[in-house]
Amino acid sequence: MALKLSVLGVGYLGVTHAACLAQLGFEVLGLDVDRHRIDRLRAGEVPFHEPGLDELVRTHCRTGRLRFTTDYAEVGAFADVHFLTVGTPQAADGDRADLRFVDAAADALAPRLSRPCLVVGKSTVPVGTAARLAARLAARTPAGARAEVAWNPEFLREGTAVTDTLRPDRIVVGVASARAEGLLREIYAPALEAGTPFLVTDLATAELAKVAANSFLAMKISFINAVSEVCEAAGADVLALARVIGHDARIGHRFLGAGVGFGGGCLPKDVRAFRARAEELGCTAVGTLLGEVDQVNLRSRRRVVELARESVGGDLAGRRVAVLGAAFKPGTDDVRDSPALDVASAVSREGAKVAVYDPMAAANGRRARPDLEFVDSMRSAVTGAETVLLLTEWEEFRRADPAELARWVSVASVVDGRNALDHVAWSAAGWTVRAPGRPGFPPLLSGPAA
Ligand code: UDX
Repeated sequence: MALKLSVLGVGYLGVTHAACLAQLGFEVLGLDVDRHRIDRLRAGEVPFHEPGLDELVRTHCRTGRLRFTTDYAEVGAFADVHFLTVGTPQAADGDRADLRFVDAAADALAPRLSRPCLVVGKSTVPVGTAARLAARLAARTPAGARAEVAWNPEFLREGTAVTDTLRPDRIVVGVASARAEGLLREIYAPALEAGTPFLVTDLATAELAKVAANSFLAMKISFINAVSEVCEAAGADVLALARVIGHDARIGHRFLGAGVGFGGGCLPKDVRAFRARAEELGCTAVGTLLGEVDQVNLRSRRRVVELARESVGGDLAGRRVAVLGAAFKPGTDDVRDSPALDVASAVSREGAKVAVYDPMAAANGRRARPDLEFVDSMRSAVTGAETVLLLTEWEEFRRADPAELARWVSVASVVDGRNALDHVAWSAAGWTVRAPGRPGFPPLLSGPAA
């Protein structure tokens, strides 16, 4: 008989995972303690923007393969495998991860597990959590040791979450038994048949896989942002430099985009949590390295504020500033730890009159920063502006015609916080262009593109 699956915690990761498991043909029961969220999902409404996900949820609510509940007893009786996908935010009092939702879910589930089952953690947790949860479950569940724990980190990116889940570049499973490995192989059979690398590890290695991967990506971004400081001091060009070093296959071109730095619901908190956990374990090298990655990242935001100040002659007070972008990256309405909003707020705190435009994230932006003014088109944001800050590299901004925009602004001055614009074309259209790591804006070197 086909396995029955539950997904505990239907946030970004949980809804995507649940809908994709239903798409693979499983019967899936999603649980959340937030009744409002469950009601919306039952009506086929996904509470955030993710391409293709609405359709998948609606389809499988109709086929009946995907159901939602707030009742742990229902979940305990239903599923053979329980995926744990609750959030692990940064703790209010420090850099470590707050595990209260993980512990609450495990404690609520444990008494309802009366038959053999597998609890598979997908949340990003400090290494050691799986072993701790296994002991906690075993002590509290009627199923005893027959309720086993495995760890299966998730590497999905916002904006491509559905395809990343259905066609991942690797599947990592941390297991303590052949039985657990067998169950996970059964669930991921289509991806395995398609040749997806299936990596079987111990629990601790699987937990580390996620924070290590995200920290490495963050380190690449902070590396190029630190180097962009040197480019500014030495009169070199960071874009050309990134293109040159990226042609080395060992380095690669991706995640070498210099600018306002990384944000979002994962990279910043994962870097901090990994750093905190490494230090708890007495491993100071990772702590020091990642502390610097975080500092460089925050400095990159401040550098863009400095460029904004420079672009209006040194004092932002009373100046009209257009901010293009609020989301932490294009293709999403997510504004969690968004560099764009941080810069917009900093500029506004210095007394500037800021108008923010984002094609998708205005509603979330307004909720997160009620002090900022959001407008509903690029034209309204830039009309009368004395400087324009490009902070999220949406296609709409990349493709904007600099000659047309020049007619709307009061002063044709732009800070390209993402190094996303064609600086030669913008300069030719009369703009003064400033950008991190590009003190002279030389045209890019000729040669194959990245
Ligand atoms: C990330 C990981 O990529 C994903 O594997 C993991 O599962 C969750 O965290 P996501 O948060 O969706 O995914 O965003 P990502 O595409 O990694 O971008 C993170 C941030 O880095 C964004 O703010 C982006 O603008 C920034 N970034 C990315 C740069 O500043 N420069 C770059 O070159 C690339």
